[in-house]
Amino acid sequence: MKKRIISAITTTGKITLGNYIGAIKQIVDYQKDYEVFMFVADLHALTTPFEPKQLQENIRHAAALYLACGLKPESATIFIQSQVKEHANLGWVLSCHTTMGELQRMTQFKDKANIKTANGTEKIPTGILTYPTLMAADILLYDVDIVPVGRDQKQHIELTRNIATRMNNKYGEIFKIPTESIQKHGAKIMDLQDPTKKMSKSSSNAKGYISLLDDVNVARKKIASAITDSLNQVKFDPENQPGVSNLLTIYSVLKNMSMSDCEKQFQGQNYGVLKTAVADVVCELLTTIQNNFKQLINSSKLDDILKEGQQTASKLASQKLALVYKKIGL
Ligand code: TYM
Repeated sequence: MKKRIISAITTTGKITLGNYIGAIKQIVDYQKDYEVFMFVADLHALTTPFEPKQLQENIRHAAALYLACGLKPESATIFIQSQVKEHANLGWVLSCHTTMGELQRMTQFKDKANIKTANGTEKIPTGILTYPTLMAADILLYDVDIVPVGRDQKQHIELTRNIATRMNNKYGEIFKIPTESIQKHGAKIMDLQDPTKKMSKSSSNAKGYISLLDDVNVARKKIASAITDSLNQVKFDPENQPGVSNLLTIYSVLKNMSMSDCEKQFQGQNYGVLKTAVADVVCELLTTIQNNFKQLINSSKLDDILKEGQQTASKLASQKLALVYKKIGL
């Protein structure tokens, strides 16, 4: 039997090059040998302020982008989280087996809970705290082996393992214990304007991230204006040269080249040469993705794929939830 993987992107905004390099590209590569589950994490998107219309558009865009990036419905079950009701159901059960302390220790929670409104009052939705138990449910419903993600999700998958082990110990074998797959290079693509920060779709400065749907000329300009340094050497040294190292990482992952080969290629060259090469490879990728996206976004083919994905996912999820309910005495 093929091993199984699952992953997802939260639809809080535009899908970025960081999401592509950290997660989507890995998943596309995995689908040759693994059974893939890839969903649109729309329930997770409710944890940050949203407009219903925009949310709806983001959900459809995300699903179309998964396919446009190369996920194949023959090997991947693609679905929308809110259409498989068991995610929220199991999320509740798991939240009752997780402590407040565990959730409050999550780095992402600490980062987000620190944001205060202008008058100093805190308005943090409870969902920001309980988000990791919903994510654990997403994973544990499907008996997956591997969860390919970027580095920022590692802690959530460790928590998933802890909850699963705790429940297996208490009630008998229910869940398969998953492991994360995090790449050596590309697990944290940095902001182009502030390379000490993660590239994020929720960044307030659009010049810092590249959306997969950015016009290619806009993307080229963003790369041209990426922050580098004054050392004038193309070297992979994230600590002392974070901007240059970030550009090298993007290049190395998209070209499928080792970091040392990339360094050799740009040895003695100025940063302009590096930026042009990075822009070329990024724009080639965006052009392919956007051409595929245009054909899919308004197609009934996309609806059919999502319907089939929902049916396949629901079947497995309902069996697992029934087992959980039985084991815990519901
Ligand atoms: P999200 O939407 O923040 O990010 C989606 C995926 O992209 C990765 N990622 C990055 N990788 C490299 N560089 C970056 N700058 C970068 N930014 C984001 C993330 O690590 C992630 O793999 N909670 C998840 C979504 C989720 C999920 C799941 C994932 C919900 N349920 C179950 C796996 C399994 C999230 O918000 O990712």
